[in-house]
Amino acid sequence: MDLIENTKEVGQRAKQELEKLHTAVELDAFFAKFLAKKGEIPTLMGNMKAVPAELRATFGKAVNDVRTSVNELFERKKAEIEKAKLEKKLAEEKIDITLPGATLSPGFKNPYYGIIDEVTDIFLQMGYEVAEGRDVETDRFNFELLNVPKDHPSRDMQDTFYLIDDLLLRTQTSAAQAHKMLENEVKTPIRMICPGKAYRRDDDDNTHSHQFAQIEGLVVDHNISIANLKATLELFVKKMFGEKREIRLRSSYFPFTEPSVEVDVSCFACQGKGCSICKGTGWIEILGAGMVNPKVLEMCGYDPKEWSGFAFGVGVERVAMLRYGIDDIRRFYQNDIRFLKDYPLK
Ligand code: PHE
Repeated sequence: MDLIENTKEVGQRAKQELEKLHTAVELDAFFAKFLAKKGEIPTLMGNMKAVPAELRATFGKAVNDVRTSVNELFERKKAEIEKAKLEKKLAEEKIDITLPGATLSPGFKNPYYGIIDEVTDIFLQMGYEVAEGRDVETDRFNFELLNVPKDHPSRDMQDTFYLIDDLLLRTQTSAAQAHKMLENEVKTPIRMICPGKAYRRDDDDNTHSHQFAQIEGLVVDHNISIANLKATLELFVKKMFGEKREIRLRSSYFPFTEPSVEVDVSCFACQGKGCSICKGTGWIEILGAGMVNPKVLEMCGYDPKEWSGFAFGVGVERVAMLRYGIDDIRRFYQNDIRFLKDYPLK
């Protein structure tokens, strides 16, 4: 019968076309042409009226068979195309897990801050408080109250960075001494350290820098003697550099301490025998210290008949250089990551 043949022919054609499909767009066009409501296959049923009654069941079945089989093939094709599309995408986006990753390098603490932390910890354990100083000072605090005479060479433009009038970049953290003593309106004992930067008009070389750090220490109380100073510094040096370190006090001069000393530590490299680091002497200087000059106590409101004290100033870079065998002070401020990586601190 023609209509049944025709139905089969539509089915054949649909199947052949389906074979040739490769993309989702083609698939949509196929669906519209054959399977959609107004597509060729569903409209075949419209021919029912023209079919003799006894063949209607056969015709109906033929149309249904065509619809079912084409639908099935269509779904299979659709799954195939989607699978191919996914595989293509996966292949394109393939991640090569053998490629080296991008590493993030962690930050490092400058050994300079490591030393400040260590020194601070040692003095905190001894009951000192930590004071915060200021980088910009007045002539009064940096010099006058520290008994630095008007004609002292350190006041010279050659040695000090002046800002305006008598404002300057402090040349020593000792300025914090005067601040602390004057701040204490009711005069009470003082145990203070003050870490901070100091500035001098030095030409930079491997042991001099225009900017460096010091840790100032100040103790004021009744009956403080040079024995207390020596014992304190000895304890500090042994905690900082190890039990085997010896210290030596050499007589020196600072306008704000009387008597004044410079403190040397036995050389870490040769244990005092003499080497190139300690220039053959067996000792390395790390700090200046002394008994607070009575004139300074008086200017800062502490009656020297009742009070006495000691002060010291530790050179932070010097300690760091000794501790880690660093040969050039400029490394501390050059911000070379390779230098920082060499001294990874906690
Ligand atoms: N301020 C002195 C210096 O910079 C060090 C020092 C501090 C000396 C305290 C004595 C007392 O060299």
